Amino acid sequence: MKKRPEWILPDLKEAQKRTKKQIERIDSYVVPENARSIGVNRLYFISTYGCQANERDSETLAGIMDSMGFTKVEDVEKADVILINTCAIRDNAMEKVLGEIGNFKRLYRENPDLVIGVCGCMAQEEGFVERLLEKYPQVRLLFGTHNIHQLPEMLYSVIYEKKRVVRIYSREGEVYENLPVHRFGKHKAWVNIMYGCDKFCTYCIVPYTRGKQRSRYMDEILKEVRELKEQGYKEITLLGQNVNAYGKDIDDSYDFATLLEECAKIGIPRIRFTTSHPWDFSDEMLDVIGKYENIMPFIHLPLQSGDSDILKLMGRRYTQEEYITLYNKIIERIPNVAVSTDIIVGFPNESDQQFEHTLDVVKYCKFDNAFTFIFSPRPGTPASRMEDPISLETKKKRLALLNKTWNQYALERNKAYIGKTVTVLVDGWSKKNHTVYSGYTDTNKLVNFTGNHIQTGDFVQVYIDDAKTFSLDGHAIE
Ligand code: SAH
Ligand code: SF4
Ligand code: F3S
Repeated sequence: MKKRPEWILPDLKEAQKRTKKQIERIDSYVVPENARSIGVNRLYFISTYGCQANERDSETLAGIMDSMGFTKVEDVEKADVILINTCAIRDNAMEKVLGEIGNFKRLYRENPDLVIGVCGCMAQEEGFVERLLEKYPQVRLLFGTHNIHQLPEMLYSVIYEKKRVVRIYSREGEVYENLPVHRFGKHKAWVNIMYGCDKFCTYCIVPYTRGKQRSRYMDEILKEVRELKEQGYKEITLLGQNVNAYGKDIDDSYDFATLLEECAKIGIPRIRFTTSHPWDFSDEMLDVIGKYENIMPFIHLPLQSGDSDILKLMGRRYTQEEYITLYNKIIERIPNVAVSTDIIVGFPNESDQQFEHTLDVVKYCKFDNAFTFIFSPRPGTPASRMEDPISLETKKKRLALLNKTWNQYALERNKAYIGKTVTVLVDGWSKKNHTVYSGYTDTNKLVNFTGNHIQTGDFVQVYIDDAKTFSLDGHAIE
C-alpha cells in the first residue's frame, strides 16, 4: 500500500452540503515566514481555463506567487512552476486540460525539479483526482478552489520537502478578503462580488466545485472599485454565478440593484456584470441599468432551453413565457441594449419539438451573441443519472441548426451598426491582424478598426463600415 496520509481528497457528498452555518470571513493574509523567498530566481507560468471566476482566481494565484518572490513568464518552457487552473463544466473542457498536462510531461522529463500544479474546478471532482494522480506522475501539486490561500505552504512542501501535495477541501467555503492580486489587464478588471452557487441546476457541476453562495460585503467591494478607479482602470466587470442573487445570503438589506448603483456612482467609465440568471432579475435592476450611463447596456441572460418542461427538468425555475416577458422588459427599459445567451441542446430526452421551442425563442429574441453547448453529463449531478436515448448525432445536428439560426440574427443585428459611430474601449492590436486595433462597444460588440496614435485603454470614436457575425469593422474618426 502506498502511504498517502497527508492527502486531502475531494468528496462530492460533502460538496453538496448546504447548512445555515455562518460563513467565515477572513481578511488578514500573510505569507508564512519560511515561504517568503521561495520564488527568488524562480519563474512561474499560469494557464487558465473556464469562466471569469477562474480568470480572477488566476490573478490571485499570480498575486500570491509574486508575494513569494516568483516572477511571471509567458513562455512555459522557462518556468520553474507551472500552474494549470482548470474548468470542469463540460467533458471537452476537461479533455483539453488533460492534453495540456500530457504535453508538459516532456518538460518534467528534462527538468525533474519542475513543479506542475493543477488547481481549479477539475480538482474538486472525486473521480478525476484519482485518475490524475495515477496517470500523471508529473503533477506534483493538486489543490482545490477552497485551498488557494494555502499556496505558499503547499509550494514549500513540494519544493523543499520534495513531497507530492494534494489538498482539496470539499466544503461550503469562506470569503477571503485582501488576498494579493496581480491583475492581468491594465484597463479592464474583474471584481468578485460573490462566490459559489446555490441554484443546483440539475446539469451543472459549479455548486459542487465552488461551494455555497457567499456574497462579499458591499463595503469591501466598493473599496476595491474605488481603488481600481484611482489606479486608472476604465472598465470593471462584477462577477458572480448569479449576480442578481447578490446579498441574499447576507440579509434583506442587500441587493444587486443597490450594489450596482453604488458602483456606478464611483464613476468608473464602464461597468459590466455577469452572469444574470433570469430567476432573480428584479425591476430595480432594470431601473438602475437604464439610469446610469456608465452601466453598459449589455445583458447576458442564459436561456439554456426554450421549452418549459425541459427548463423544469433543468431546475431553472422559469418558463418560456417568463423568459420572454423578462426579455421584453429588458429591451423596453434599457435603451439600445444588447442581449446574449447560453443554450444547451440535447438535455436528456429532449424531443425534436422541445428543441423547436428553443429555436422559437431564438427567433423571437434575435440574440446579439450566444454560447451554445451539447449537454455533457457531469458526474454526481441529477441530470447525469437521467436516461437519455437521444443519439449524439441528433444532438450535433441540433447544435448546427441552432448555431446557423442565431448566427443569422447576430449578423442582422451587427449590420444595423453600419454607418453609425460607436465608442470603443481599445484593447490593443487585433489578435488576428497587427495592422488594425480592436476593442469593444458599450454593447459588447468586438470592433476591428484602423486609426492613428491609438493607445490601449483609450476611448475612440469609430465609424462602422462593415459587419460580420462576430465583429464589426470600422475606422477611427477624430
Ligand atoms: N451561472 C451561469 C452559468 C455558468 S456555466 C448561469 O446560470 O447562467 C456557463 C454555461 O455552461 C451555462 O450557462 C450552460 O449553458 C453551460 N453548461 C453548464 N453545465 C453544462 C453541462 N453539463 N453541459 C453542457 N453545458 C453546460
Ligand atoms: Fe450552474 Fe445553474 Fe449555478 Fe449557473 S445557476 S452556475 S448553471 S447551477
Ligand atoms: Fe468552469 Fe468552474 Fe467556471 S467549472 S465555468 S471554471 S466555475
